[in-house]
Amino acid sequence: MSSSVPVIAIDGPTASGKGTVAQRVAAALGFHYLDSGALYRLVALLALERGVAADEAEQLAQLAATMRPHFAGDRIELAGRDVTDAIRTEEVSAMASRIAVHAPLRAALLELQKSFRRPPGLVADGRDMGTVVFPDARLKVYLTASVEARAERRYKQLIEKGIPANIAALSADLRARDERDSRRSAAPLKPAEDAYQLDSSALAIDEVVAQILDWYRRV
Ligand code: DC
Repeated sequence: MSSSVPVIAIDGPTASGKGTVAQRVAAALGFHYLDSGALYRLVALLALERGVAADEAEQLAQLAATMRPHFAGDRIELAGRDVTDAIRTEEVSAMASRIAVHAPLRAALLELQKSFRRPPGLVADGRDMGTVVFPDARLKVYLTASVEARAERRYKQLIEKGIPANIAALSADLRARDERDSRRSAAPLKPAEDAYQLDSSALAIDEVVAQILDWYRRV
């Protein structure tokens, strides 16, 4: 049964490095990978395109229940269209964070997220992987980093892509998103009681990955 398939849940705030870390841990173990944030982003993209407002919870849940995303390696397709880059814009990021407060939308995405749990195992990255979606995960990690460290990382990523960026604006945006993700009543961002907490502010990605693999070997 799927519940015997091991899950490593990696939760934490935006720009904590979860995505990269989770993908590397999955690759090291030969496990599947779930980027749950991408699902919220897909719904946000559809909502923006179809004129569904951020407060129309039932319509948003409907979009989530009927979309059939296809994950092909690191590309994401929706109805045959490659939306990998379209879901990463600032506009979609902001919309995803706003719509993620709605319980009906979160409920509509539950089964889809659980369907990623397939042998030999799954590494799931998000905000509520250990608390709500996979409460029986074999290992739960809560990955944080200071706002300064996260703003710095995002700044470097943007500059490398040739996109102008400003550290102060990025920090303010991260704070606002943290606030929204942790204050919402539906599945707020918080560590599971049995999560191992790791502050990656002063760590390299390799060190974070090694620590998680070490914990996994011990549980
Ligand atoms: O991880 P991310 O930045 O791609 O996530 C986009 C948004 O989706 C984020 O603002 C919060 C929301 N989200 C969520 O509420 N629960 C998850 N498990 C993953 C993401």
